Amino acid sequence: MTNRKPLISGNWKMHHNHFEAIQMVQKLSYLLSANDYDAVDVSVHPPFTDLRSVQTVLESDGIPVALGAQHCHWEERGAFTGEVSPAMLAKLNVSLVVVGHSERRELFGETDDDVKRKVEAILAAGMTPIMCCGETLEEREAGQARAKVERQVVAGLAGLKAPQVAGLVVAYEPIWAIGTGQTATPEDAQEMCGAIRSVVRSRWGVEAADSIRIQYGGSVKPVNAPDLMRQSDIDGALVGGASLDADEFARIIAYRLVG
Ligand code: 13P
Repeated sequence: MTNRKPLISGNWKMHHNHFEAIQMVQKLSYLLSANDYDAVDVSVHPPFTDLRSVQTVLESDGIPVALGAQHCHWEERGAFTGEVSPAMLAKLNVSLVVVGHSERRELFGETDDDVKRKVEAILAAGMTPIMCCGETLEEREAGQARAKVERQVVAGLAGLKAPQVAGLVVAYEPIWAIGTGQTATPEDAQEMCGAIRSVVRSRWGVEAADSIRIQYGGSVKPVNAPDLMRQSDIDGALVGGASLDADEFARIIAYRLVG
């Protein structure tokens, strides 16, 4: 196994206006230390309207937290009312973009093909996709979890070369665990993240599989982060609700100091 530096990302979803966002990152920066940044990569993914304000705070205060977005279109420009292009995000020094989140897939009809186009466009703009995948409770109970997630990974990353895949982030987020307080057990999360790494290995080779970072997401909290992060195929967390509070998010980032 190579040394994959953990990545802990806060997906704020549709929370925090730009004033609240500024307070949040300033508070977070007071709570995190150089040791935290040495051990863990950290990103925050505010709503679009906050990005410029958060960028300014991170850069003017020299805070080593990566700026992320939650979504984008795949085209560079055009008549796509309401959409934001990868190039616009890159101009704000956004470095990570969440793509294919289950809320986008389920509520806004994003398909695997849309996800694939976005992954390519994000990479072309010099940023890193965090490509999400995950099964519903019905799919899990029907024994289809692994097949569903493998299909999403293969479809979303189709056409990429091994070195591109090596630099990516995939987030395994079981839909039944998102916002429910019902986290996957560390063993179940490990099994699914291991399956994702295996499919990457069989399609893109050992080096890509050893380098790609796989996050777990779904009700990650300070109390369960240490056990999840201990799993060999879990390289980080994509945190929703608990990332909205600086104290809670900082405690998740400091998971290695617990137990
Ligand atoms: P929660 O942490 O609120 O369950 O959300 C997870 C998620 O969807 C992150 O993208």
